[in-house]
Amino acid sequence: MKLKSILNQIIKDTFVKAGIEAKPISVSEASKPEFGDYQFNGAMALSKKLGKTPREIASQIIANIGDTELISKTEIAGPGFINIWLDSKWVASRLDEMRLDDRLLIEKNTTPMTTVVDYSSPNMAKQMHVGHLRSTIIGDTLVRLFDFLGDEVILQNHIGDWGTQFGMLIAYMESSGEDTYSSLGDLEQFYKDAKIKFDSDSDFANTAREYVVRLQSGDDYCLKLWQQFIGVSLTHCEDIYAELGVLLGRNDVRAESSYNECLPAIAKELKAKGIATESDGALCVFVDGSDTPLIVQKGDGGFLYATTDLAAIKYRARELEAQRISYVVDARQSGHFKQLFDVAKRAGFVNKSVILEHVSFGMMLDKSGRPFKTRDGGTVKLANLLDEAVARAKQMIEERGTQKPEDIDEVAHTIGIGAVKYAELSVNRQSNYIFDWNKILSFDGNTSLYLQYAYARIQSILRSHGTKLEGKILLIDELEVRLGVMLLKIEDVLRSASRESMPHYVTSYLYELSTLFMKFYEHNPILKNNVDPKIRDSRLLLADLTAKTIRQGLDILGIKVLDKL
Ligand code: ARG
Repeated sequence: MKLKSILNQIIKDTFVKAGIEAKPISVSEASKPEFGDYQFNGAMALSKKLGKTPREIASQIIANIGDTELISKTEIAGPGFINIWLDSKWVASRLDEMRLDDRLLIEKNTTPMTTVVDYSSPNMAKQMHVGHLRSTIIGDTLVRLFDFLGDEVILQNHIGDWGTQFGMLIAYMESSGEDTYSSLGDLEQFYKDAKIKFDSDSDFANTAREYVVRLQSGDDYCLKLWQQFIGVSLTHCEDIYAELGVLLGRNDVRAESSYNECLPAIAKELKAKGIATESDGALCVFVDGSDTPLIVQKGDGGFLYATTDLAAIKYRARELEAQRISYVVDARQSGHFKQLFDVAKRAGFVNKSVILEHVSFGMMLDKSGRPFKTRDGGTVKLANLLDEAVARAKQMIEERGTQKPEDIDEVAHTIGIGAVKYAELSVNRQSNYIFDWNKILSFDGNTSLYLQYAYARIQSILRSHGTKLEGKILLIDELEVRLGVMLLKIEDVLRSASRESMPHYVTSYLYELSTLFMKFYEHNPILKNNVDPKIRDSRLLLADLTAKTIRQGLDILGIKVLDKL
């Protein structure tokens, strides 16, 4: 249910009745419970135009609200804020509808938007590292979110599988023979070893150079070696995807190399349209506000990362008919995307109406605020990080002693992987974030464990109750009403998270919801003998609905719940 839109409409109607020209109207959430549930702060801005004081305008708006079952009370506060309280009976009956609906009253877009999400996109010559973790996890959440809200989502794994280094890598793969598969398991090492051989063995260096040329001219033998190399590298990425439980599959791979054939035409078109010009022998596009031009083709005829991205954006807009294209890539590439979007629109590769967004994110830092590295200064491998998360979770739940021995491994996996994902998702993606094991694997604070605990706690209450839930939701005390209103907000939260590609809106909401539930539960006994059966039924229903909402939210984040913790 789009609660805010409903309230906006009510205010809009009052403007019409009062003959005030209605601008975009938007209510906001009240900053404190004593100010009600929502606020409308638009009266101040109208004062000058209407020649009235904001308080006069506010009372005019209130007078025109008329009879609505939605709002129980309004009040003018301060210079002219309108505080709005929702009617608890209205809220309760919406909650009764919500609990009977699998989608929790969250609507599906009637006109789905075709949305391409470019994420993960690792480079095949190197091991996936923690930097790719953020892209993979944030991208996966966006895919789930857009899809849940009813958009047509197309996943694109734009893997880096082309470049001169592949000559050296396939030559080395060829020379290392049988051990290829195992040595490729550690790509970082494989690359280093190849480089050592390249620098010290001139015959090998010559073969490597020859292979680059043969590869680029489409030689069968070299292409086969290269395909084998990419195949094995991708399998390693897929192990990580499986471990993380993300949706990306082989079918979603649309590699850089797949655009090779279109690159000359891209350069030609940009030149013909007068957008690209020769500069120092290279074909360049100058973009306002950028110090360096976007290079389309080098002096030696070679194409670059940006050229491939131009071909890819054109393909996405024209062939895939994307209406929104979201690139989940770290913030250091923001200059690149600014240029890319500018050129793509100017060249008409993409219509003006298409939404292009760089979903940028900051770096992962260690406790002391430095880039996350291994003890000896190397990059932390993703596989090792995830293994450590699961191992730490396992130790924790073994100490806790609440799980059956046969469940421990699965529970540890759910908790460990969930914690890593949640840590990534719960900070504003634009900032760097500190990765601290003790913090992310804690039952306190804004963590996945806290939410999983709240969920499991509710399941345990429901189990103790035993029988089927009955009755209706009654919102009596203040905490109950607040919890009820909070539950109705889920669609608004998901919509703004989707609009702005901000997963942390969802985590903040779930955290607030769980905290509120815990408070409610502390103050309002559910299973004690002296509780009136009608009230008990209502509280059980409210608990159940809270659990379902937490589960739905976590599902969008790609995090599993546990029935027992
Ligand atoms: N392979 C690139 C990297 O690891 C990321 C590619 C992002 N996507 C894109 N269309 N440029 O830096």
